[in-house]
Amino acid sequence: MNFIFLGPPGAGKGTLAAAVSVTYGIPHISTGEIFRAAIKAQTPLGCKVKAIIDSGALVGDDITIELIKERLSQPDTKDGFILDGFPRTIAQAEALEKIAHIDSAVNFDIDDTAVVERLSGRRVCRKCSHNFHVVFMPPEKENICSLCGGELYVRDDDKPEAIKHRLEVYRSQTAPLIDFYRAKNLLKDIDAKPATEAVLETFKAAFPVQ
Ligand code: AP5
Repeated sequence: MNFIFLGPPGAGKGTLAAAVSVTYGIPHISTGEIFRAAIKAQTPLGCKVKAIIDSGALVGDDITIELIKERLSQPDTKDGFILDGFPRTIAQAEALEKIAHIDSAVNFDIDDTAVVERLSGRRVCRKCSHNFHVVFMPPEKENICSLCGGELYVRDDDKPEAIKHRLEVYRSQTAPLIDFYRAKNLLKDIDAKPATEAVLETFKAAFPVQ
């Protein structure tokens, strides 16, 4: 199956996509993660997008569409994929229609209070990029990744001003995609408020593993 994961920042898209990727044996493709890896490696792309991402704004459509076009041309996507964080604008969604067939756009529904709670407590491993949460998914040792021993950090775009801006950007530019996919009968709403295990069970019930 070819999935799009929609939802506001902090809805848990990345956390669930990691679990779905393992369960369904399909790659998890996160545009945010691709950009952060480029920033870490100080590539020309990384240098270009760093300030945009730190502020919570969106990277330009052209750059992002090219990136996804290239990623979806790779052979590991032939039996399915999860797009996490793409498309994020109507222009990206229209471009995607020319690149790949989509089976379902899953909308992870959550309120702003929970979003702020999740993002302000998120900690990310510098080495392997795994996500933790100080309350909901704490690491075994404070500030140390339980998977690889790397140091945990707070993303620049998880600072209060950037979270506020990301929510505004989400409402104005990304939320219209809900109606875009609903009109095509591709939308599936899932309540993202429960714990990850429960959200995964709801997902598996909606899309039985083949
Ligand atoms: P991106 O990385 O995609 O950020 P985002 O969409 O804002 O999503 P997040 O990663 O913040 O949240 P998430 O929903 O994945 O939640 P997570 O699972 O981590 O994009 C970053 C930036 O890159 C953008 O702002 C933009 O600048 C740029 N960009 C990316 N794609 C782009 C595009 N297509 N076009 C243009 N620009 C683009 O969970 C959050 C926290 O909650 C974690 O701490 C986690 O442990 C915890 N948590 C998760 N699930 C649960 C749960 N069920 N219960 C309790 N806690 C939970």
